[in-house]
Amino acid sequence: MTNRRNVLKFGVLGTLASSMPTLSLAAIGDQRFELRAQKTPYKLSGDNNQLSDLWLYNGTTPGPEIRVKQGDRVRVHFVNELDEPTSVHWHGIRISNAMDGVSDLTQNPVPPGGTFDYDFVVPDAGTFWYHAHNKSWEQVARGLYGPLIVEEPVPVFDRDHDITLVIDDWRIDNDGALHLASLGAFMDWTHSGRLGNWLTVNGGSQPEFTLNANENYRVRLINASNARVLQIDPRSLGAQVIGYDGFVFEAPQSSSSSIAIAPAQRVDLLIRSKGNASGQIPETGGVSLEELSGREPVRFATFKFHSNENQTTAKPVQLKPNKILTPDLTSATSVPLIMRGGAMGRIGKAIYNGKELKRGDFQRTKQVWTFNNIANLAEEPLFRIKRGQTVLIQSDNQTGWLHGMHVHGHHFQIISRNGQQQDEPLWRDTFLIDRNEKVDIAFVAENPGKWLLHCHMLEHAAAGMQTWFEVI
Ligand code: C2O
Ligand code: CU
Repeated sequence: MTNRRNVLKFGVLGTLASSMPTLSLAAIGDQRFELRAQKTPYKLSGDNNQLSDLWLYNGTTPGPEIRVKQGDRVRVHFVNELDEPTSVHWHGIRISNAMDGVSDLTQNPVPPGGTFDYDFVVPDAGTFWYHAHNKSWEQVARGLYGPLIVEEPVPVFDRDHDITLVIDDWRIDNDGALHLASLGAFMDWTHSGRLGNWLTVNGGSQPEFTLNANENYRVRLINASNARVLQIDPRSLGAQVIGYDGFVFEAPQSSSSSIAIAPAQRVDLLIRSKGNASGQIPETGGVSLEELSGREPVRFATFKFHSNENQTTAKPVQLKPNKILTPDLTSATSVPLIMRGGAMGRIGKAIYNGKELKRGDFQRTKQVWTFNNIANLAEEPLFRIKRGQTVLIQSDNQTGWLHGMHVHGHHFQIISRNGQQQDEPLWRDTFLIDRNEKVDIAFVAENPGKWLLHCHMLEHAAAGMQTWFEVI
């Protein structure tokens, strides 16, 4: 869908220089935080433009960075100051089920004026995020999300060498304010989801960072968009990839192509300039990261290098992958997951709310997508499995659209794509699946409870692309 509304542009408001990208919340005592969901009028684009009716955590976009250490117990006192119910989901954390924050599955949504105390342990180090999980298609589009960074027990990077970039594409109108009339537009639900036309990084435009030459920097990218698959090329920075979705590799990897970042996915990059002496880094200008998914590249962050006299050589980075049980494919339970529907999709009969509907009747429900011919959550789970068993989910995208599929409470390995075994299966919590693609993923169901599995293109999820499974 390339209509003009969906063409990304970057800020005309000039450069927002920031050295520290997000506000770090002061921990009250032992990793205790407070989050308040609030209606916040906010100037999203240029100074002369209208205020947007955003809903934010603690009045900032993104919400405050919650930064803790692996193994910490995290307590978040949440207050809902909105006019509608909401809950907070801790995306990618292998969390205890009751704290997963999924409205109507793991908790009742927190009513207006209500509070909820989240209390959980973070078992893995890495780049995660939190976001609203009730009517997410609207609440996340309004700004209810923030970064959640779990540091290694012995930090790999100094704090000022660790940069978080939360990226969002907002849809703004001609006055530069959030386009409210199109929230929930059926057109978006049936096509690629709500794509925006205004890219922000940590709530502003085109941040610039000055880095010391010859030192190591970690740049954590988080895609908080409702539906846009971001595309970046780490080679433009001379950067290497150190991990995806909160899970780092043993060693940094060079990438041979550009990288797609589906909604909710994260990529951690390692940037190390060689210093001026080698003549590799320009004295002025610097290098920039561009968003390549649109017709024209959109520059979204610039890194300038500041040469230091003493040309010490940066030490190689020592990474420590998270420990997690490897799936045992020989005894795995296979579960097919067939995706159908959407614009131009073929749907015959579909089950919704326990009723089998004919094509025409189904179309009147505002549900448009199905997993195994079922739209949205059914009474029975997609599968029920004993704790410790391996599950192999064989997804098959028979729609004409991309999907970014997220499994709650577990990290999985990507085993194969279109039957092609992956040499080094990646650990992820969200995978991108192309049109007419088949992707097999596997994980050990080690976390008891009822978990969601859904497309993270939030309009697709609302319009049917979600299901659940149970680990007993
Ligand atoms: Cu990032 Cu079900 O969510
Ligand atoms: Cu989708």
